[in-house]
Amino acid sequence: MQAQLTIFSSDKALVEAVASRMIQLIQQAHAEQRQCNIALSGGSTPKRLYEYLRQRAHNNDIPWEHAHFFLGDERYVPNDHPDSNYALAQRYLFDDLLQHKNKVAIEAVATHLSPQQAAQDYSQRLSCLPQKNHLPVFDLILLGIGEDGHTASLFPDTNALKETEHGFVANYVDKLKCWRLSISIPVINQAKQIIILACGASKQTILKQVLDEAKTDPQYPVNHIQAQGQFECFADKEAARLIDGK
Ligand code: 6PG
Repeated sequence: MQAQLTIFSSDKALVEAVASRMIQLIQQAHAEQRQCNIALSGGSTPKRLYEYLRQRAHNNDIPWEHAHFFLGDERYVPNDHPDSNYALAQRYLFDDLLQHKNKVAIEAVATHLSPQQAAQDYSQRLSCLPQKNHLPVFDLILLGIGEDGHTASLFPDTNALKETEHGFVANYVDKLKCWRLSISIPVINQAKQIIILACGASKQTILKQVLDEAKTDPQYPVNHIQAQGQFECFADKEAARLIDGK
């Protein structure tokens, strides 16, 4: 994985850096009178980020109305389900923000539709972003990384890894025996900025693999990323412990 690694002393320092980057991009969009389009990562790591952003949310230095949030991926569950990435974002940040700012947009995936229809519907909604090669260009895509090297809901040996035409796809993940929905590799590749977030000891082995040893091994979906813009990995000390020289 050809990402530039930055190691932080703690997960708190890491999320503060991610939040600062997001706020900087939103302020820049405000100055340029446009929207800042951000794809949020799934899983549990973003919870720390949302909690930090919620503390900052009531400062008036963040023009939230210039931010448009999307989900980089979603589980095929109702939007109020405990496993839903949307539900996590709502519970830890957006419910609070909407009470005070009532202009913050986060786009839920229509998981009441079939997986294919939900993916098609979200792809359609992504057509409001600036486009390149008929696919959306995000200002920032936040991604997690799994111990098998998956990112978003692009898991090893799944069909979505081969997607080249659509921006958001339904992906049956056999090892989880469930449907997922995910942005595709071409959309990730053409984002202006990508940050992979890795916190905790459970990420040690996969980070060593994809940053130190097997940087191009296609068995790891993160290695399919060929970023055209800024590509970074933010890891805390625990996650980066096995990386040589760190
Ligand atoms: C998901 C994610 C997935 C996640 C990684 C890391 O919906 O689960 O999109 O790619 O980001 O598995 O998850 P953690 O943050 O829980 O370690």
